[in-house]
Amino acid sequence: MRKAALHNLGCKVNSYETEAMQQLLEEAGYEIVPFAEGADVYIINTCSVTNIADRKSRQMLHRAKKMNPQAVVVAAGCYVQSAGDALKMDEAVDLVIGNNKKTELVKILEEYFSHEGRIEEETVIDISAAKEYEALTIHKIADHTRAFIKVTDGCNQFCSYCIIPYTRGRVRSRRMEDVRSEVERLVAGGYKEIVLTGIHLSSYGVDFREEETKTLLDLIVYLHEVDGLLRIRLGSLEPRIITKEFAEALAALPKVCPHFHLSLQSGCDATLARMNRHYTTADYLERCDILRAAFDNPAITTDVIVGFPGETGEEFQTTEAFLRTVHFYEMHVFKYSRREGTRAAVMPDQVPEPVKTERSGVLLSLEKIMSLEYRKQFLGKMTEVLMEEEFEWDGRRYMIGHTKEYVKAAVPFDEGLKGAMVCGTLTEMVNDEVILLTR
Ligand code: F3S
Repeated sequence: MRKAALHNLGCKVNSYETEAMQQLLEEAGYEIVPFAEGADVYIINTCSVTNIADRKSRQMLHRAKKMNPQAVVVAAGCYVQSAGDALKMDEAVDLVIGNNKKTELVKILEEYFSHEGRIEEETVIDISAAKEYEALTIHKIADHTRAFIKVTDGCNQFCSYCIIPYTRGRVRSRRMEDVRSEVERLVAGGYKEIVLTGIHLSSYGVDFREEETKTLLDLIVYLHEVDGLLRIRLGSLEPRIITKEFAEALAALPKVCPHFHLSLQSGCDATLARMNRHYTTADYLERCDILRAAFDNPAITTDVIVGFPGETGEEFQTTEAFLRTVHFYEMHVFKYSRREGTRAAVMPDQVPEPVKTERSGVLLSLEKIMSLEYRKQFLGKMTEVLMEEEFEWDGRRYMIGHTKEYVKAAVPFDEGLKGAMVCGTLTEMVNDEVILLTR
């Protein structure tokens, strides 16, 4: 029996695909082993979102070859798309498999083994021409309570800093029936919460033929019917998808978590324009107000990039003030990282690294304050927590999980509660990030 080891780099969509490839290999009779154990086949599902991600992808490929020089090292995914022929020249890499070719992994490996390393078919396609959603599926996931489900691939937005439209191609959506079968399978396997994810989730359905037009809302309504599914959480959303109708329709679906990750990137209109984001801060704020009117204190979380080319001190202050105005529950703060092949990489006035670090520090401190303020608003409130794992703090053992708003809550340790939905009142802070749930 051949041994295979997999390593994932990059986003949730990539990790979904790594899980799916692992399951394809298992079904084909491969034994899955940890990366360090020594395998016959190494699959590195690469990322190319920044120059650093490229470097990490190359490092992992080389590490795999070092681990076992006889092994077949497979580079899969986004870096394969962006690196072009350079990867084929790399001696550490035996096989390259681009996006939309991952379903064929087992077949490609078989051909490789039976033809002594010769592959006839094209394993990297022109991704910008891909029209079909790649039918990868999963049956189980490493995280036992929350299942990430990929429902879209590709992106049509072309933000000026982002390479993803070039590595993933245009929007391709997964059929609703296919998503539902996967959700039903996972729910039958014990999962209670799903997180819908995709490269540009809000674009779900834009590629369907006109006579079968479906939207993300249609998909959510359809999945809401699945018996045994208790929670539907949404991955990152484009702010413009939030309309009064959309928010009110979601609020009428009790399984939908009032947790919205609305990607902002900058709180300054001039910076947003340079980023080629298609909204203004006024639009964004309006969408937050819509959510706050439709839901009772929803969690609004976001991503922010600091030090985008041309970001002056004044622009940064505008962003900081805007973040305070919205008052986010959580913010993922990224220092702008140059990505060759994007428009932003050649923009003038690149911001020096120490300035980015300083700005990032300012926002991370702000995030801590706003996050704690948001959590504290739940003290004294009744809620339900889906228990996930063991947690230790200050010498005490707890079981910890999340509320619908993605607030962490803990009860005294009880092994039997793993995966259970527990009701109670949030009574006191265990630490700055976790609230005690009293049953
Ligand atoms: Fe990286 Fe590709 Fe995801 S570039 S962030 S793995 S879409």
